[in-house]
Amino acid sequence: MMGTHVLVCLGVGFLQALVANGVTVYYQQGQAPLSATSTSSGDAANYTGLAAYNPTTLNPPAIPSPFNPTYSIQLQNGGTPGVSIPQQGSFLGFSIEMSVANQVLGRNSSVIQVPFLNLMANIQQRAGRVNIRVGGNTQETAVLVDSTPDGRILEKDITGASNPTQTPPLVFTPDLLYMMRNISSFVNVRWFLGIPFNDTGNFRLAIAEQGQAILGDYLIGLQAGNEPDLYARHGHRPSTYGPYDYFGEFGNLVAAMTTNDRILNRNLLIGPNIASADWKAEDVWNTGFVDQYSENLAYLAVENYPTDNCFAQFGVGTQQNPQTLFPTFLDHNAGKNIINKFLNSTAYAQTKNKKLLMFETNTASCGGFAGISDVFGAALWGLDYSLQMAYSNFSGALMHVGGQNVFYNPFTSPPTNQSTFHQWSVGPIYYSALVLAETLGPSNGTQVLDLNANDGDIHTPGYAIYENGNPVRLALFNFVTDPSGASDLTVSISIGGGQTGQANATPAQVKVKYLLASSVSQKGNYTWAGQTFGVNFQSDGRPMGTEDITVITCDQTNNVCVIKVPAPSFALVFLTDDAFTEAGGAPSTTFPTTAQTKTRNTITVDPAVLATSNGHTAMKNKLGSTSPGSTNVATSLRHSAVFTVLGVVSGALVLLRLAVA
Ligand SMILES: *[C@@H]1O[C@H](CO)[C@@H](O)[C@H](O)[C@H]1NC(C)=O
Ligand SMILES: *[C@@H]1O[C@H](CO)[C@@H](O)[C@H](O)[C@H]1NC(C)=O
Ligand SMILES: *[C@@H]1O[C@H](CO)[C@@H](O)[C@H](O)[C@H]1NC(C)=O
Ligand SMILES: *[C@@H]1O[C@H](CO)[C@@H](O)[C@H](O)[C@H]1NC(C)=O
Ligand SMILES: *[C@@H]1O[C@H](CO)[C@@H](O)[C@H](O)[C@H]1NC(C)=O
Ligand SMILES: *[C@@H]1O[C@H](CO)[C@@H](O)[C@H](O)[C@H]1NC(C)=O
Ligand SMILES: *[C@@H]1O[C@H](CO)[C@@H](O)[C@H](O)[C@H]1NC(C)=O
Ligand SMILES: *[C@@H]1O[C@H](CO)[C@@H](O)[C@H](O)[C@H]1NC(C)=O
Ligand SMILES: *[C@@H]1O[C@H](CO)[C@@H](O)[C@H](O)[C@H]1NC(C)=O
Repeated sequence: MMGTHVLVCLGVGFLQALVANGVTVYYQQGQAPLSATSTSSGDAANYTGLAAYNPTTLNPPAIPSPFNPTYSIQLQNGGTPGVSIPQQGSFLGFSIEMSVANQVLGRNSSVIQVPFLNLMANIQQRAGRVNIRVGGNTQETAVLVDSTPDGRILEKDITGASNPTQTPPLVFTPDLLYMMRNISSFVNVRWFLGIPFNDTGNFRLAIAEQGQAILGDYLIGLQAGNEPDLYARHGHRPSTYGPYDYFGEFGNLVAAMTTNDRILNRNLLIGPNIASADWKAEDVWNTGFVDQYSENLAYLAVENYPTDNCFAQFGVGTQQNPQTLFPTFLDHNAGKNIINKFLNSTAYAQTKNKKLLMFETNTASCGGFAGISDVFGAALWGLDYSLQMAYSNFSGALMHVGGQNVFYNPFTSPPTNQSTFHQWSVGPIYYSALVLAETLGPSNGTQVLDLNANDGDIHTPGYAIYENGNPVRLALFNFVTDPSGASDLTVSISIGGGQTGQANATPAQVKVKYLLASSVSQKGNYTWAGQTFGVNFQSDGRPMGTEDITVITCDQTNNVCVIKVPAPSFALVFLTDDAFTEAGGAPSTTFPTTAQTKTRNTITVDPAVLATSNGHTAMKNKLGSTSPGSTNVATSLRHSAVFTVLGVVSGALVLLRLAVA
């Protein structure tokens, strides 16, 4: 429905910013001065710059021996036992550390990071929506204030940092929430926030009050405490603090919310959010927590990382050797080992009719590891781990996003003083999220089965994805790096036949999309169906290149389709045309977007905001180039918003909204 046209002026400050920007751009894309964030590799050992751009690479694990590169999968339509609960395509979302929200999301409600919007739009197109938490350790002491002296929406008090991750107390303004709401009017992002839990005798509920008022239905949950099992260890509670104390404090929160008439929805709470380090989930379940607060609990959640890099980052804990650790991320046990301890809890959650979320996770706490968290292997790790969680009846997971000082970011905005000549850096975990969205698709009814493929070889896991009881897609991994080709997998798939009473149902052909790199150690430039987000500082959030889909002709007489899975890679096999079309994206909405580049700026951001021609449904459209100054008209936009990009202000494009429906 076409709406009224409204012109929203951004005012004088905006014009000044443009002028200032115009005269301060000295560097062309790719000609950045040598700086701490130089991407030149080879100096890894002596690298002293920001973690997010650390060039360290590790050796890929040795080729396993023995290794069987040929195996078969027999599937059947209907009645397959052991499949997961129904899952949503938005299963894998992001957890953005609150203190960096103004680097990742935007500067304020009127200057939103367009690369971020594009990255989220890619996922929305495949899954229908994206779930994002803004929170983390920094939520615990955050204070909502009316304004800050310098007009920023978020400020850190670095000197007040506390253990273990040097968490700075922060203040934020309602404009952070308006920014989130504005993002949701462009892309269907649903938000989680957290209620500060540092002082449960005197709750600061403003984030719940204003969060609900501003975000409305886009707010889907409010964390009650972050990692309470670590409160005692970190000195935030007495050493005796245990699950029953948390139970009590949660009750205090419910009571405080009940007497607060500015809080309209008291049933959005999420607990217990334990780090699953000092308490077990069962320790909390056994307090009666879920029954006592069932009405108030929108979700149950735990948090966990498989290991930590706290020694290197903060001098606490155990020193780790990344080269030794690297292989432990590159097999099917990696994800299983994280969640084995929660299998009882996913079963328990089902008995209580609750969804269990993995609320914060990534390759390693305290920032991850150079050479592990930021390489192709992490994309495979993230995918297998996520599929394993889906198979094991988690209902969602959020990969953590930190600042420039961590290795594991799914995406990183350029340092502020480089944002006029550098673009974003897209990390391997973003590829995991994008590919998982496509693997699960938007139906909300997808069920996942771990196939125990290749006789359970941990280097070659495989999953089948079911809709309405029938297999529609296959997710096949090869964790091995072997440029010789000798370790490429040859997988024979049969549907039906074989078993008594099963008709031969192998299709005439299947389509395959590959997630590829030359090695698990490769940094950047991975391709998903031929498209990439490039290396550091190269992405405007849209995939670059032409989409490449492999069509495999099956042998219907012998009931078999033969799929190659290179070493290393991930292959998504679409068993039906519907499965292919469905996961390709939501139908386009009807409003055109016009986009204008500020051509004087040499940044190669092609501000065809929210271009949605990046799924395979858009094969007919070649993707827009990202060459300087090019203008690419996006074909569609959700939520009927039409806006124009006017220019670049410190790396963020200013959106001028022209029409609302
Ligand atoms: C957002 O930041 C821009 C640039 O700093 C400024 O011009 C604008 O007034 C700010 N908008 C709001 C709503 O604070
Ligand atoms: C950006 O700021 C960092 C930290 O202050 C500094 O080391 C670096 O040289 C700056 N880079 C540019 C291009 O100004
Ligand atoms: C890196 O540091 C090592 C000593 O730690 C030194 O021998 C080497 O010359 C340095 N390399 C460069 C390129 O500065
Ligand atoms: C963003 O939020 C502000 C504050 O609510 C609003 O005035 C503005 O119109 C919004 N901007 C866009 C682009 O939607
Ligand atoms: C909780 O955090 C607030 C804001 O940072 C701070 O003012 C207050 O003193 C803290 N309370 C406790 C009990 O730590
Ligand atoms: C599973 O969880 C329930 C509920 O907390 C608990 O009673 C039971 O002991 C747990 N079982 C195992 C094997 O941990
Ligand atoms: C997931 O839940 C389903 C339905 O309750 C169950 O049949 C299946 O065994 C569970 N899977 C795992 C790995 O626990
Ligand atoms: C999937 O579920 C979400 C809510 O969780 C809903 O908004 C969406 O419309 C559902 N999609 C379909 C295809 O039913
Ligand atoms: C990334 O891939 C492109 C296209 O294959 C290639 O030209 C470029 O050199 C690669 N960049 C790096 C840093 O590997």
